[in-house]
Formats: sequence, structure tokens, C-alpha cells
Amino acid sequence: MNHFDLEDGGLACESVSLDAIAEAVGTPVYVYSSATLERHYLVLRDALVNAGLGDPMIAFAVKACSNVAVLKTLSRLGCGADVVSEGEIRRALAAGIPGARIVFSGVGKTAAEIEFALSTGVAEINVESEPEMDRIAEVAARLGRRATIAIRVNPDVGAGGHAKISTGKADSKFGVSFSEAARLYAKASNSAWLDPIGLAYHIGSQITDLAPMEAACLKMRGLVESLRDEGLSVRRLDLGGGLGAPYFDQPDPPGVEAYAAMIARVMAGLEVQFAFEPGRVICANAGILLARVIHVHRRPEGRNFLVLDAAMNDLIRPAMYEAFHDIRPVAPRPGAPEVYDVVGPVCESGDTFARERRLPPLEAGDLVAFMTAGAYGAAMASEYNTRPLAPEVLVRGDKFALVRPRPSYESILAAERNAPWL
Ligand code: LLP
Repeated sequence: MNHFDLEDGGLACESVSLDAIAEAVGTPVYVYSSATLERHYLVLRDALVNAGLGDPMIAFAVKACSNVAVLKTLSRLGCGADVVSEGEIRRALAAGIPGARIVFSGVGKTAAEIEFALSTGVAEINVESEPEMDRIAEVAARLGRRATIAIRVNPDVGAGGHAKISTGKADSKFGVSFSEAARLYAKASNSAWLDPIGLAYHIGSQITDLAPMEAACLKMRGLVESLRDEGLSVRRLDLGGGLGAPYFDQPDPPGVEAYAAMIARVMAGLEVQFAFEPGRVICANAGILLARVIHVHRRPEGRNFLVLDAAMNDLIRPAMYEAFHDIRPVAPRPGAPEVYDVVGPVCESGDTFARERRLPPLEAGDLVAFMTAGAYGAAMASEYNTRPLAPEVLVRGDKFALVRPRPSYESILAAERNAPWL
């Protein structure tokens, strides 16, 4: 469910027409709906609570959509942050998310990042390897501050919409193996500077089948019980993120109620606080990328290239993961649909959003919306081909705000320095 609907013949975000946003801000531009963000967070939270999972800690995966205004929208509802860098910690803090609601994940945290995280009192640092755990203990000792950690376990369960976003198999770089987990947990429990609060896992992203999640949950439950049998205290279980969002090219992923019910069933009677790191399920459908048709290149042999002013640098998911994004004309014209290759202006064949997509007829100057672009859209954008980062707009009701302006060419060039010998 999202708040991008046709209103008076044109696509609108809540009560603001996308045409008005394009006029005011230019294209390409990311547009987010506050109502959709809020709804998705609240629906997830209610599903988890109603399933009997207590008072879960929900830490939004900042990497999915890191704009501070988006984070603030979620933070005001009590949402926390799952972060993977000092930069993301700083974003979360700037959005008013206190350290006590921040989970610090990631495979390679530097000593400087760990020090910064500890100084802000993060709720949990997810340890991904033994050297990392040793480093956290060293930094904590130096600061005289005990570090609350969870051990991220790799449950050796594959899941996720694409090989590049599957993280739970034994050969992936994420987390410690089951065989190491108990030893590391015991080692942490014996350290004066570490407070092991529990375990964490995250097996992949855009998961559309609950079976691998259930398999991983069962393994995690078994591990909690065996640690407790050894007299170790396990108070929190962080079940990561990964639940898929509907992209309209395949059957809908399981809903949050089914997800919550599965966890409640597998974890029944296990006394822990649950933590979650959802990204996509909260923000994917809350954002679109709005672009304008530069022209239609009709090859006499029969291919129609719809050349847009958005490119792979703005939305890399189709190039990187063969991802499908629904493309909708903002003001659909009457007439027979046509078949287009939808491309951007970047000088690579990979700069193709869709091949042979059937769309209503389009002409130069028309606006199109890439749906479900709120997750891993703006957050993964770059200035490749020296194309300024697309601005971001946040809508609430009949109002909109430019929450990240488009950088000027002057500011892009001013960020660089001459070498003294040139
Ligand atoms: N927790 C951890 C430790 C993660 O690595 C991730 C995502 C999440 C939570 C949030 O996962 P989500 O709920 O959003 O699935 N760029 C790719 C997705 C990469 C996901 C990376 N990790 C894409 O565009 O599909």
C-alpha cells in the first residue's frame, strides 16, 4: 500500500501532484510520502506486538534510505536506526534518534568508528568476527566504557532476491559461523569490557518466502537455548531485516502479519527482547524516482528507446541486480500501448532501466515515475558522468519540502582541488 495514486488524471503523492514537484524542483527527483513511511512502520510494529513479540526494538536500516528528514519522520514514531558506518550514526543522531535506539552492524568497523559509536552510547554493536570483537574490547577498555554487543551469526541459510544481496550462506563474509558462536559468546562474557546482550542474524534482502527465514529462526532459537544451557545470559535476539517489498513483477511477498506470526510460533516461550532491522519493507513503496522523457528514439528496424533524464547513477538497481521497477506515466495519454527500451543518458549499455516494456504512448517532455524506488534508490546514487545527485522531496498531505537540493555544478567543481604542479 502506498500513497501514489492518480488524481484528476495525473499521478500524485498524497495530495501533491508530481507535475507540480517536477515544475518546482526539476527532474530527476526522488519523492517520498510521509504517510506511506509512517503507515509501513506502524503496520510492522503493530503486527509484531499483536503477534505477542513483546516490546520489539525496531531499528530502520538507514542504508535503505538515509535522508535525515525521512529518518526524522520515522524517529518521531519511536523508530530506531540500524547503521553500518560512522556517517550513518551521524545521520541517525541528526534525525534525533538517540544512541539507545541505534544498532551498529557491519563487517569491518574501524577503531575510530567503534570509539564514536561507544561515545554515543549505542544500544548494541553487532560483532561480525573475532578480530572485530577484540578490537571493540580494546577500544572499550581505552575509553573505560563497557560495550554492549550482540554476536552476528551466519546461519548458513541462503535467501534474498538476488545473489548480490544474499548474506546468510556459510561462504558469505557476514557474521561468525555457528561453530564459533558459543566460544565467542563465552569469551565476551568473560571480558570486563564487553556485555554480550544476545545474538543477531540477517540472511538477505528482498526475501519473498518465509521458509528460509523460518529455518534461520529455528537455528537461532537452538543457539540461544544452548548458550543458556551453558549458563550464559541471552537477553536480546536481533532478527535483522530482509522482508521483501512488492515490485509488481512477481507475486507479492508475505505480509508483515504472516512474518510476525511465523516468528511468534518459532520463538514461542523464548524469553528475549526481539530486535528488527527492516529497511526496504518500510521505505521501498514510500518513494519514487520522477524523471522526464528527453526524447523517443524510434529505430526504423523497430526498437523504441525511451530516453529519460534519469540514469543508472540515479537508480542503479536495474543495472546492478537486474531489478524490476514499475514505470508509470504521470499523465497517461490515451492510445495504444507501445513497447519501449527505457534508458538513461549515461554512456554504458547497462544504463537500461527496462527492456521491451509495454507502456502507454509517451512523448518528449512527459513525466514518468519509477515506483518502489524509496529503498536503495537515492541512497545508492552517485555522480557518475558528473550528473548532480538527484534532489529529494518529502511530501506530507498537501505540502512538500525539498529535503536535499540538487547540488550545483559550481559546488561539484568547488569540492575538488588543483595539484600544485598543474
Ligand atoms: N540489516 C543488515 C545487517 C543489512 O545488511 C541489511 C541490508 C538490512 C538490515 C536491511 O535489509 P532490508 O530490510 O532492506 O532487506 N542494495 C540492495 C539491497 C542490499 C541490502 C543490504 N543489507 C538492493 O537494492 O536490493
